[in-house]
Amino acid sequence: MQIPRLHPDTIDEIKQRADIVDVVSEYVVLRKRGKDFVGLCPFHDEKTPSFTVSQTKQMYFCFGCQAGGNAIKFLMELGKRSFAEVVLDLARRYQVPVQTLLPEQRQELQRQLSLREQLYEVLASTTQFYQHALRQPLGEKAIEYLGDRLFKEETIQQFGLGYAPSGWETLYRYLVQDKHYPVQLVEKAGLIKPRKEGGGYYDVFRDRLIIPIRDVQGRVIGFGGRTLTDEQPKYLNSPETELFSKGKTLFALDQAKAGISQVDSAVVVEGYFDAIALHAAGITNVVASLGTALSLEQVRLVLRYCDSKQLILNFDADKAGTNAAERAIGEIAELAYKGEVQLKILNLPNGKDADEYLREYKPEDYRELLANAPLWLNWQIEQITQDRDLKQATDFQQVSQEIVKLLKKIENKDTRNYYVSYCAEILSLGDSRLIPLRVENLLTQIAPLSTSYRQPIPLRKHSKARVEKATIDNSERGLLDQAEALLLRIYLHCPEQRQAIIAALEERDLQFSLSHHRFLWQKILEIPLDIDVNLVSTLQDRYLEFSEEMKLVSHLFHVSEKEQKEILRTPQVIQVTTACMERVLREKRCRHYLELWKQTDPEAEPERYQSYCDAFYAENLRIQELDRQRLYSITDLLSG
Ligand code: UTP
Ligand code: MN
Repeated sequence: MQIPRLHPDTIDEIKQRADIVDVVSEYVVLRKRGKDFVGLCPFHDEKTPSFTVSQTKQMYFCFGCQAGGNAIKFLMELGKRSFAEVVLDLARRYQVPVQTLLPEQRQELQRQLSLREQLYEVLASTTQFYQHALRQPLGEKAIEYLGDRLFKEETIQQFGLGYAPSGWETLYRYLVQDKHYPVQLVEKAGLIKPRKEGGGYYDVFRDRLIIPIRDVQGRVIGFGGRTLTDEQPKYLNSPETELFSKGKTLFALDQAKAGISQVDSAVVVEGYFDAIALHAAGITNVVASLGTALSLEQVRLVLRYCDSKQLILNFDADKAGTNAAERAIGEIAELAYKGEVQLKILNLPNGKDADEYLREYKPEDYRELLANAPLWLNWQIEQITQDRDLKQATDFQQVSQEIVKLLKKIENKDTRNYYVSYCAEILSLGDSRLIPLRVENLLTQIAPLSTSYRQPIPLRKHSKARVEKATIDNSERGLLDQAEALLLRIYLHCPEQRQAIIAALEERDLQFSLSHHRFLWQKILEIPLDIDVNLVSTLQDRYLEFSEEMKLVSHLFHVSEKEQKEILRTPQVIQVTTACMERVLREKRCRHYLELWKQTDPEAEPERYQSYCDAFYAENLRIQELDRQRLYSITDLLSG
């Protein structure tokens, strides 16, 4: 195979997605030790582990044989494969679209690569310039401002804060005239802009406090500039450049990644100063989103350092009302409904942001609020019910509707059931006798049970005509009739399946429910299970006298050889039919327990009340389990 040259974006994307722990774990058993993982080195023989993998650094290193590198290097060394082969493999595995590079594009690539290097350099130079300016007399205002906001010298250093002087061309002259950087390069770094008239350039940041924005590796990629007065905009940020993209960057991630993997959770705040203030207070697992909706990319970036996928959003509650957090959650809502990220919401009291809060309260207080932050779903339910009077019919109806809408989005069934009870309790307004009714209402509204199971099992065409007589309607009875009849048919005509059928019925503790089927089954059981006996003819001979009952089941006695084979085309057919029968039975029990639950007074008989509630949920869970099994099997039957 001729391996195409890959576009650097593709390689970058792969490096982003292919987590080293993930990659190495496929070949080496890794155990967590402190921040890192250790295991037996695959590159040399050893009995005690000296092979370490660092998730934060995305590197591996063996103290025994000195092997080391990133995920791509690991796979290259291990499989003796080329760079391109490994990268292509990873692209397939992590579903990264592959872009290739034509030979003539390569020169352009070289140019771009060196452009990036040069941009990093200009930005580093600029950072130093701003930091220097902060310590000059002209930077006194900024120092004063930082003092007013109670910034410690240590924090100023840690975040590399600076000051952009107020002239129009201060930075321009420094970079272009003194340091001889090409003017286009400085423009591409987002630091200067061409004047609209009269030629020349002017500085983007003037008379502002400067907050360097760094990538995960700590390289400066852009700046945020805060006004020291009440000028608008309050914050000015670097424009999108080759290096900086607002939606892909999280402020302070370079400082926070160690803290995040240590406490195994990440806090996302909105503002630069919130993140800085929290770090200064010793709460270091914090990044800032720079005031935009969180993107999937940002979430992926931060969760890389967090095994338990716990994300706490501490967004301002006041600004645009309750919807602010919802909007900020943006694309990640879906991840949360799927359960791929454990999302919690923290709204600080009185609409304060973290920086303001810490001026009044202690770091421990913030930590405690963090620990008690509600899960996103609970938070949403709170928002729905807040300031509503559920005793008013209109409020009640609106709230129920919104709750149903919310519950429908939860994909995990156990989670959904949990929230159904939770909301039922809220909607019962303290009267626990109402809970069962509310549960029932919510359940029917979020997933009308009738549609999910009332369809008859799709049978093959030939058998349809015969079975259809009793199953023209889509009722429960029709489903049961089909399932039971099919099972009896198999029993009668496929002697080798008889044992399996008896076992399946016993395992599920099932009986035939329809009277004519139960009748036939009794008669069958009365005949000794003997291979020499022709069951069908014996039955017919022996029970001629029960002509009425027999009429209803006599169609089961006839089957062509071809049909006989087809009935058993898939091995799941017994599972499918018995699962259907169980489904109907459970459904009946479910209704029964619900009825009992509703009729029991929780105050007078709390234990009984609880036991009916538990029984109801147990039946419900089992039904969902059966639905999963049955769907799977039916697809098989259809394709078989
Ligand atoms: P806020 O308006 O909440 O500011 O914006 P803040 O962080 O509390 O700022 P201070 O405490 O008054 O200094 C939150 C974030 O939104 C972005 C910034 O990243 C800011 O930190 N933002 C805000 C802008 O980019 N531009 C603006 O004009 C305002
Ligand atoms: Mn603030």
